[in-house]
Amino acid sequence: MSDLKSKINPENIPQHIAIIMDGNGRWAKQKGIPRVLGHHSGVKSVREVTEAAAQIGVKYLTLYAFSTENWNRPPSEVTALMSLLVETIKGEIRDLNKNGVRLMAIGDIEGLPPATLKTLRDGIEKTKDNDRVTLVLALNYSAKWEILRATRYLAEKVKQGICLPSEITEAMFEHELSTYGMPDPELLIRTSGEARLSNFLLWQVAYTELYFTPVFWPDFGKEELFNAILSYQNRERRFGKTSEQLSNE
Ligand code: FPP
Repeated sequence: MSDLKSKINPENIPQHIAIIMDGNGRWAKQKGIPRVLGHHSGVKSVREVTEAAAQIGVKYLTLYAFSTENWNRPPSEVTALMSLLVETIKGEIRDLNKNGVRLMAIGDIEGLPPATLKTLRDGIEKTKDNDRVTLVLALNYSAKWEILRATRYLAEKVKQGICLPSEITEAMFEHELSTYGMPDPELLIRTSGEARLSNFLLWQVAYTELYFTPVFWPDFGKEELFNAILSYQNRERRFGKTSEQLSNE
């Protein structure tokens, strides 16, 4: 057992960790190799982090794999990322099943290329009975899109006379988000030294602990995940209360 792992308190593991996987391009540039090879190496990190998360009992791992804004990248990079997704999902299904990993997706997945969508749906279907950890891929995802979509659904309910605007609750809003049924992430990690949310899970991270690391995603592995969890465990989550109130609970 690694030293770091033994320091983690098993009673306080985040149920849901969200990750903004950033820095594949800069990692490749540093090595003088094409950006797409950075994404290929990023897949290794996805595998290692998913395994580590499963081992310590994390129940949901949400990865920002492709944002709505990522369509603006050079077409060759977009095509390469979509093919990599297809290749990876196809190649990993057997291992996902062996390790009890359920695959899910959030985002406007209907907007993905047909081959990617088909492989994704197939992966979701073939792993749907696994219950050790749920790997959620955010694909063609934008938090503003998700919030707007929820608003439109609720507006439609009001229009149909199902409820009044004043009756709309947080729970009703959450029911219309693509993360419905999942706990909100307790911990959000962003790699590569950037400190912003980039339109990721804006509603769901209201009380999330944020962890930023300079490590590029292809260099992020088990040990880095354990470090992030240790940092999380050393924080006091007050949810608006005082320290004294918390210690009297
Ligand atoms: C960010 O690095 C990474 C992405 C936009 C794509 C992430 C995709 C993978 C790791 C591979 C496929 C994933 C799965 C889940 C199978 P960047 O390109 O923004 O790096 P840069 O900021 O250094 O340019």
